[in-house]
Amino acid sequence: MKADLIIHSARQLLTIAAPAGPKRGAAMNDLGLVADGALAIDDERIVGVGTTREVLGQFQARQKLDASGHVVMPGFVDPHTHVIFAGDRADEFERRVRGATYREIMAAGGGIMSTVRATRAASLDQLVAETRPRLDAMLAHGTTTAEVKTGYGLDTANEFKMLVAIAALDAQHPIDLIPTFLGAHAVPTEYAGRADEYVAQVIQMLPQLADAGNFAMGVVGRRVESSRRRLAEFADVFCDEGAFTVEQARKILLAAKQLGLGLRIHADEFANLGAATLAAELGAASADHLVVTRRDEMRAMARAGVVAVLLPGTTFGLGQTNFADGRAFVEENVPVVLGSDINPGTAWCESMPFILALAARYLKMTPAEAIAAATLNAAHSLGRGSYLGSLEVGKQADVLLLDVPDYRHLAYRFGSNPVKVVFKKGKRVVG
Ligand code: NIG
Ligand code: FE
Repeated sequence: MKADLIIHSARQLLTIAAPAGPKRGAAMNDLGLVADGALAIDDERIVGVGTTREVLGQFQARQKLDASGHVVMPGFVDPHTHVIFAGDRADEFERRVRGATYREIMAAGGGIMSTVRATRAASLDQLVAETRPRLDAMLAHGTTTAEVKTGYGLDTANEFKMLVAIAALDAQHPIDLIPTFLGAHAVPTEYAGRADEYVAQVIQMLPQLADAGNFAMGVVGRRVESSRRRLAEFADVFCDEGAFTVEQARKILLAAKQLGLGLRIHADEFANLGAATLAAELGAASADHLVVTRRDEMRAMARAGVVAVLLPGTTFGLGQTNFADGRAFVEENVPVVLGSDINPGTAWCESMPFILALAARYLKMTPAEAIAAATLNAAHSLGRGSYLGSLEVGKQADVLLLDVPDYRHLAYRFGSNPVKVVFKKGKRVVG
């Protein structure tokens, strides 16, 4: 059979193949490793996977890539980012280094609101231009698909601007971007003391923004695909002390669910308000952060099929040591996912390999569990497990070649970039 490309002789090829759904428990340690592995790619898809002997015996390709000595694996799927924003918060970072806390800075009108001011002031073109180099850095570190949240606009026009920026960057950049509406990221200053009124406003924004897809695609000249007409696919709420209550989150997420949006929730990052339980009650696609979640809540998540998106870059970024208990989530059979949470306040980190290094040390996840969490499980958390996140015949050819001799080096080393070559939809986009 003919193929466009064969990648062969990989020291280790990680297929991360799984029958259906995300990996849980002991299955997270099975990466479907093929020694001396090979991959045949035709157009955008994987057409063959196996040993070098098998694949070279079965396919003829115009192009061959010798991966001797290297690890080959699926691209990272980053399921939680705030990568679209304007400006930076280096000043706040220095204040935190000097002893101020994130929540003190937020209460004093800084934090998220400071990025909201910068993002509101930026034009669509500025926002796109400021974000593009961050996406370039993510791609260079192996991220081939990323979820992106709004939440720095906090009014209809500026949330819309953020959604259009996501659509524009999705059209321009090799990384596929999946949009999440996070109008409930903070109560904006103009609604201070009137949180419930802002919640009502967010609920009004929902249908306007979710259904504005065709209009925005006209704006950015984006190819309209029948399956992707929505400007936002998911809705998210920051449910925590100093942000939104469980009651407010429930109202917003129920309204989003009625519109057919998937649900995500910032849960238990600082205080346990019961947001993980709410995620289980609503059948959310994911609950994210989960630093202070109890075991009984983990079990409720497992029963409801809610995946846990853990974000160790945020705890590290805040200079804290109370990391989420990744081991406990694995033990309780919750599918665990890892994300960067890239944002200007708590975690400006474009590198998924660095997130894996943190997860191994502080979430007590094995290198294999961390890799499964950042690929296949992350794809499932975004409703894309059927065509992303593993190297299997029929799946999209989003493939990394790593400059390491063994996959465990991914979590073992840190501070340098192990990613040497990136293929997105079968096209070489890095290296
Ligand atoms: O996930 N928790 C809320 N949102 C972000 C922080 C965003 C910001 O500080 O700008 C987070 O940590
Ligand atoms: Fe976040």
